[in-house]
Amino acid sequence: MLDTGEMPLSSRTTFVAALACAVVVLCGAGPLEYTSDAQLKYPENYRQWVFLSSGSGMTYGPLAERDHAGPPLFDNVFVNPESYRSFLETGRWPNKTVFVLEIRKPEVHASINNGGYSQGELAGIEAEVKDSSGASGTWTFYGFPLNAGKPPGTGKAFPRTANCYSCHGTNTAVENTFVQFYPVLFDVAQQKGTLKPGFKRP
Ligand code: HEC
Repeated sequence: MLDTGEMPLSSRTTFVAALACAVVVLCGAGPLEYTSDAQLKYPENYRQWVFLSSGSGMTYGPLAERDHAGPPLFDNVFVNPESYRSFLETGRWPNKTVFVLEIRKPEVHASINNGGYSQGELAGIEAEVKDSSGASGTWTFYGFPLNAGKPPGTGKAFPRTANCYSCHGTNTAVENTFVQFYPVLFDVAQQKGTLKPGFKRP
């Protein structure tokens, strides 16, 4: 416990104010923030979150056409750290979980690389949120269409008819997420018995 009883009142006020600032700096404003018109604020520091996995040539929708035309795009999946820790304990995603799917163009001959592909420029950013206070459903997908290679500060929700909802709703191992592609987490879900009923990894 912090005992401020010995401090004069003015120092106590300063101390409490400083503590509040430290909490805000350390904890940030949280990964999940909306605008007043229900757009998702771009989670700027997602690259400091927990990295779940990369895929190559695993994009769907318009980006997939680009994928089939040349060397495949990379995708990287991130989740906010609090939710990752919670998943390790329970095998489920807590409320207010945010995922970011970052898509990058492949690069050839970058630096010393001869024949392989490394991850280059950003090609797309999408997000998925679990929020039980969501107006139309618990899981919502958001898009951040790039402008001159940069994501906008806010992203709109995809309509419920978008194929994100059907593909994720049908093919995912845990809740609405592709845990079958995330090393470590798939084993956790198996141990905790939280795979969807009947889910089998081919
Ligand atoms: C045909 C199936 C399919 C469709 C359609 C689809 N996805 Fe996915 N999505 C995947 C797969 C497979 C993964 C696993 C990660 C990977 O690709 O590396 C994934 C992963 C994700 C993730 C990471 C969290 C998770 O659920 O595992 C996000 C975020 C995401 N997709 C967003 C979207 C959005 C937004 C749309 C719609 C615009 C969409 N997806 C449409 C198959 C799909």
